Amino acid sequence: MIQIFIEAAPLRAHLNHLRDNHFTIGLVPTMGALHSGHISLIKASKIQNDLTVCSIYVNPAQFNNPIDLEKYPRTFDSDIEILKDAGCDMVFAPGNNEMYGKPSQIKFDFGSLDKILEGEFRPGHFSGVALVVAKLFNIIQPAKAYFGQKDFQQFKVISKLVEELKFDLELICAPVVREPDGLAMSSRNMRLNPDQRQKAVILSKVLRESKAQLLSGEKLTLVKNIAMERFMAQNIRLEYFEAVDKDSLTPLETVSDPGQVVLLIAAYIGEVRLIDNLFLIEK
Ligand code: PAJ
Repeated sequence: MIQIFIEAAPLRAHLNHLRDNHFTIGLVPTMGALHSGHISLIKASKIQNDLTVCSIYVNPAQFNNPIDLEKYPRTFDSDIEILKDAGCDMVFAPGNNEMYGKPSQIKFDFGSLDKILEGEFRPGHFSGVALVVAKLFNIIQPAKAYFGQKDFQQFKVISKLVEELKFDLELICAPVVREPDGLAMSSRNMRLNPDQRQKAVILSKVLRESKAQLLSGEKLTLVKNIAMERFMAQNIRLEYFEAVDKDSLTPLETVSDPGQVVLLIAAYIGEVRLIDNLFLIEK
């Protein structure tokens, strides 16, 4: 039986009771429109914790583009069915009033970490993510919380949040789940028409090709140029394609230690903005 909570207070009380009885709680924060990527996180949590809570909340504070917020897919009823099948124990699905009351004035600043890559193109995004995730951590107080490598920069930001605010929990970063053709699963993929869906494979393809080129010793500047040309040839708006240090996320000019390098990409397929990333050497 899955339990659904729309208010924080009864969920808190229920979880306090469970913790008093020594149950460990795993949290999987999501914005719904669930797919196999989300479910991989639920499954990981089920293995490592006694009980798993999935939160479903489309967080307005992290959307810098109002159209993206309005068009974000909302599939609550089928999400619940998917979570039941996956064996998730509890769902927290608050409304905006429950999460914010009135719009929050609190802003987070993560220094260079939230100014580059996604941060450069989505100002305020990571502050909004950090705000809602901090609220979820406070309400649910999980022993472990699960995030996807699909949003690698988000994982870094949340790691910093946990470290600096001293949340007493362990963060787990789970691998990217992909469609058979390589496209990283994303709730936003639902917004692609069949033609765009085919085009979208270019993100993962270019990441894989670039990885092979870099590992065979090709220079980063040349690899980046080839990638940009691949996008231009298909008339696709590439927002960024960077090789960065996996710890600091500092963009690199050359690749000297492949084990430290992650490639990150963001592009618009029609109106839909997609992101993906790949480690040069898997951990
Ligand atoms: P959302 O995009 O719904 O993603 C929820 C979690 O699922 C994130 O940790 C994300 O990295 C992970 N995820 C998404 N696609 C994945 C894939 N293909 N493989 C593996 N994991 C995947 O990320 C958010 O929501 C929000 O920013 C949130 C953290 C919930 C805060 O509002």
